[in-house]
Amino acid sequence: MKATLVLLPGDGIGPEIMAAAGQVLNRLGELCHHEFSMHSYLIGGSAIDAAGTALPHETLVACQQADAILLAAVGGPKWDDPTAQVRPEQGLLGLRKELGLFANLRPVNLHPDLQDASPLRSDRLAGVDLLVVRELTGGIYFGEPRERRLSDGLIEAVDSMVYNQAEVERIAHTAFQLAQDRRHKVSSIDKANVLESSRLWRETVTQVGKSYPEIELEHLLIDATAMYLVTQPARFDVLLTGNLFGDILSDEASVLSGSMGNLPSTSLGEGTNKHGFPRGLYEPIHGSAPDIAGTGTANPIGTILSTAMLLRHSLGLSLEAEQVENAVTETISAGHRTVDLTRHGEPCLNTNEMTAQIVSRLKRP
Ligand code: IPM
Ligand code: MG
Repeated sequence: MKATLVLLPGDGIGPEIMAAAGQVLNRLGELCHHEFSMHSYLIGGSAIDAAGTALPHETLVACQQADAILLAAVGGPKWDDPTAQVRPEQGLLGLRKELGLFANLRPVNLHPDLQDASPLRSDRLAGVDLLVVRELTGGIYFGEPRERRLSDGLIEAVDSMVYNQAEVERIAHTAFQLAQDRRHKVSSIDKANVLESSRLWRETVTQVGKSYPEIELEHLLIDATAMYLVTQPARFDVLLTGNLFGDILSDEASVLSGSMGNLPSTSLGEGTNKHGFPRGLYEPIHGSAPDIAGTGTANPIGTILSTAMLLRHSLGLSLEAEQVENAVTETISAGHRTVDLTRHGEPCLNTNEMTAQIVSRLKRP
């Protein structure tokens, strides 16, 4: 197979972990005789510095033409001025919107050997295997109006949480369909006791759920869900949420795995690539970690597992994806850890060493 991949290293630790993913793709290409042609483009803060915009036109066009996109992370203190007109995050949000990537999938499962790295007691972790399905192109991230204005002589700011029925329906279908291949349960998360947009969300999800009688549907409030994620995380299978609640819950859920550095994600839309698969955007769920950028100590697993998702969802290479996932699992089982997965003072590997351990375990399927 020949595939064109756009790599967006971005900011902070982004370039370091993207290099790790590149090594994995190169080795797998060699082993399986695939031609992955990888091209890097600017996004986020580094794009602001070089081109004055977080999403240069050239980057967007390359992404629109690629078979899939791998992004590492955007943002950092250098571009954090709250009054700035351009912000690194605009690159990522713009890309999601322009490519219509409305479905963000964030799987959370645990390697048994990492239980000690999790903040939860091991008896609470048993059976945790969940998938956050986050709506990604609507809600308060994009609703209008969003502005600062004067009201009675005071500056006020407004953001709008807006969802229409069609937006809720399509993400609900995604969640129910994914639940069919899992444990047949969807927990839809909202704040329907307060928010009108949540009441429409709940009504619409209930309606869509009628087409999936084999799937158990529960509705939970966001505040209760935040609690259940730490008291009974194993009760969840698919968590269906809007943009903002999904952002928050996925960070919370990710640390159950020991470190948010471990977790991958994909964002899918209706667009397909030349192979007939969804043209997805794949990224680790963690951020640019400016505090450790340049130290070579970042955990590359989230990005490497994102390449596995890319192989599976955008290139139809499930066996190759499994090879990558197995190589990560075996590396952890062999006791290798980056610093985020260790307690203070325990021996650990740097990004390159961890990547080398994973690459050395890749096999031809
Ligand atoms: C995420 C991130 C982004 C988001 C930021 C970087 C804009 O936190 O992907 O979860 O809020 O969606
Ligand atoms: Mg987030």
